[in-house]
Amino acid sequence: MNKQEITDILNDNTKNDWLFREADRVRRENVGDEVHLRGLIEFSNICARQCKYCGLRSPNRVIERYRILKDELLLIVQNAVNMGYKTVVLQSGEDDYFDSDKMCEIIKEIKKHDVALTLSIGEKSYDEYKAFKVAGADRYLLRIETTDKNLYREMHPGVNIENRFRCLYDLKSLGYEVGTGCLVGLPNQTTDSLADDILFFRELNADMVGIGPFIPHNETPLAHAENGDFWLALKVMALTRINLPGINIPATTAMETLHPNGRIIALQSGANVVMPNVTSREYRAKYEIYPGKICTNENPEQCRKCIENKIKSIGRTISKSYGHRRANN
Ligand code: SAM
Ligand code: SF4
Ligand code: FES
Repeated sequence: MNKQEITDILNDNTKNDWLFREADRVRRENVGDEVHLRGLIEFSNICARQCKYCGLRSPNRVIERYRILKDELLLIVQNAVNMGYKTVVLQSGEDDYFDSDKMCEIIKEIKKHDVALTLSIGEKSYDEYKAFKVAGADRYLLRIETTDKNLYREMHPGVNIENRFRCLYDLKSLGYEVGTGCLVGLPNQTTDSLADDILFFRELNADMVGIGPFIPHNETPLAHAENGDFWLALKVMALTRINLPGINIPATTAMETLHPNGRIIALQSGANVVMPNVTSREYRAKYEIYPGKICTNENPEQCRKCIENKIKSIGRTISKSYGHRRANN
């Protein structure tokens, strides 16, 4: 689709049913009925950055900060592997404590298990990304958040969008499977810029794209902003599936936070991945990117069972493979 076609669909709510059905068909034909589960470990909520939408931003003095050190982290990984996860995702704020050497040590230990490893730890130098890759990391998640340069500047004090682009292209050139994505519903975001976001995913040849509705957090400058719209986020996701047919697309936690059945609706509108939380329960509420996050009172075993049941209830199967992006599409 060209930009005009994408924008027209985003602006027109009369064709939503067609759009979601079409995205579901494209998903089935290109990546099948299997759902890939990724065990998400939120290992540090300490962050040097000040993204205006995020509860982990450094000026937030209200949340209690934590970091999970190597030995405990490896126990969490072991538990995820025991539960059957074939991918683990390490996610954190931009926490300088975990320098290149510490991360590489952790990566090497994790890769002794039979799992694919995804990192989501923010903007780093080319050399750091290279070191992580050499140590064994397979994938990297870094959302562009928005391709609208003015909005990006407004949302991210003191940093620039060029470095975000640089990171994504560095990761691609190093042979990572690269995940990116955007927030939907930021103040002053337009459907025109959301269409540009989708075109960017295609230009990057992203291997994975995660779309999340924006949810305002009380301890941020956007405390009084409006919630992102679940259905608009779902439309951006469905259009991403139609325009990048063979990639991996998660049904995001933020979608389920806004709609009680959000992940299942997403799985039926183009998504083929879910990222259940495998972090120990004691830390979950503290990784408060936004309020009302699901699964903060559950433990890893409960989440695994919960999501497996939901996926089976719609006739889909749980993949037993690593779930790399399929070759050739
Ligand atoms: N620090 C890393 C980064 O920013 O890439 C990884 C962790 S960050 C918490 C993961 C994602 O959370 C971000 O890419 C952003 O899109 C999302 N996020 C942050 N604040 C949010 C909010 N208020 N509502 C919805 N999603 C949010
Ligand atoms: Fe830090 Fe990521 Fe939150 Fe930005 S989105 S404040 S980089 S944790
Ligand atoms: Fe965590 Fe359902 S996936 S409670």
